Amino acid sequence: MGEREYTKEEEELEIQSLGRIISAYLNYPDAAEKDVRRYERSFKRLPPAHKALLVHLPLKFQRIRWCINMNTSFIMNMLQAFEPPFEMSQDIEPDLVNNTNNTHEHSHSDISPIGERRNITISVSDSSNFPNEPESSCLDKEETHVECSSKSVTRRCVGLNCDDKSCNKGEKARSCDRKSHTSLFSVPLVDVDKVRCIIRNIVRDWAQEGQRERDECYKPILEELNRLFPNRTRPPSCLVPGAGLGRLALDISSLGFVSQGNEFSYYMMICSSFILNDAREACQWTIYPWIHSNCNSLSDDDQLRAVKFPDIHPASAGITEGFSMCGGDFVEVYNDESQEGSWDAVVTCFFLDTAHNIVEYIEIISKILKDGGVWINLGPLLYHFADSYGEDEMSIELSLEDVKKVAFNYGFELEVEKMIETTYTANTRSLMQTRYFAAFWTMKKKSGKQSSTD
Ligand SMILES: C[S@@+](CC[C@H](N)C(=O)[O-])C[C@H]1O[C@@H](n2cnc3c(N)ncnc32)[C@H](O)[C@@H]1O
Repeated sequence: MGEREYTKEEEELEIQSLGRIISAYLNYPDAAEKDVRRYERSFKRLPPAHKALLVHLPLKFQRIRWCINMNTSFIMNMLQAFEPPFEMSQDIEPDLVNNTNNTHEHSHSDISPIGERRNITISVSDSSNFPNEPESSCLDKEETHVECSSKSVTRRCVGLNCDDKSCNKGEKARSCDRKSHTSLFSVPLVDVDKVRCIIRNIVRDWAQEGQRERDECYKPILEELNRLFPNRTRPPSCLVPGAGLGRLALDISSLGFVSQGNEFSYYMMICSSFILNDAREACQWTIYPWIHSNCNSLSDDDQLRAVKFPDIHPASAGITEGFSMCGGDFVEVYNDESQEGSWDAVVTCFFLDTAHNIVEYIEIISKILKDGGVWINLGPLLYHFADSYGEDEMSIELSLEDVKKVAFNYGFELEVEKMIETTYTANTRSLMQTRYFAAFWTMKKKSGKQSSTD
């Protein structure tokens, strides 16, 4: 893939954007504690007779605090393992951090992008090459562990907001005492929400509890790939744009494809990289994903239940050589000459509706597929930029009928079409469940034709 030098300005923006995301992760415990204090204040206001009926609640609040600590512990381990793709030695502009971007809340994820042109590739190796030592650096394990394709990386403590002065800029993040991390500045609530959203995504992709959702969403895609590419002695290539935490891309790799996940959110990339590269065994970590809402719980125990992950050890999943995660905007990274006609399959799962311009996504998918290549899609059309509340965000919102029309225009033929009822990062034990009737299709790119308007 063609790489270019980045301007100083672009790099600074990138560093600021990453700093904001790291701050959001670091603010997780403070924001969660604020919620618990709110519960306690409300409880205190109860008349004594009502309090007497609910004497167990103060203990529940303490239990929630304990769960927050456990979640924080995972987050800090993850941040300490993270190796920024560039020198992060500059301070983060508080203004930038406090300035909420214009993203809106979205029920199936809405995450700040990695700066538009960044292109980081993380290659994941099989377990035989997997290093055991906990300390790892991009530089000493290029071939076997993590490869950062853009630049050499020095792990720094930037944005990690250490109180400890010995852990100042230029020190290794890993040397920070996690207890000394406090927030340098408060982050917008929308950012804190994104961290909670990542925790739910962990369940979808990497916990036993997410198996039903994965069976609904990923299994039909895997079955279709298996059917369409019965001979994989020479592994076909498959791209997964908007790969989230990487499970589908990994399962496709394990099926015998040279699989690449593409993802533009650092929230996602930091977490997927940690799970894919740093997990030493199945069920290594425990989180408490459902503690942040008291609504629609069947019981306190349900709300406070532990979730272990990953359900499998990624490095022992039998991945096919060449598995990688590529950071960057799908449009920026793949709308490149070097990508034309290079993929046997493109898989989009809950991704199409993240587009500002869905026609552009379809055009690029068509362009990068080989003649006869297949596009498998599953997802709703809940356009992410449809309700940008006064912001002048471009958002082309097409019906399913029009999406298919556009695809036909770019040389696709429909092979399979159905609806799949499913959820997205749902709490299976909640009194409220949002269900999608997701459009599923397999389309084949006709030979020698990209667009009738060409
Ligand atoms: C709704 S999530 C789906 C994630 C995953 N496919 C799944 O099914 O769990 C959409 C993902 O696409 C990513 N995304 C959105 N726009 C993108 C873009 N232009 N390029 C790359 N990734 C993008 C988001 O960060 C998010 O992780």
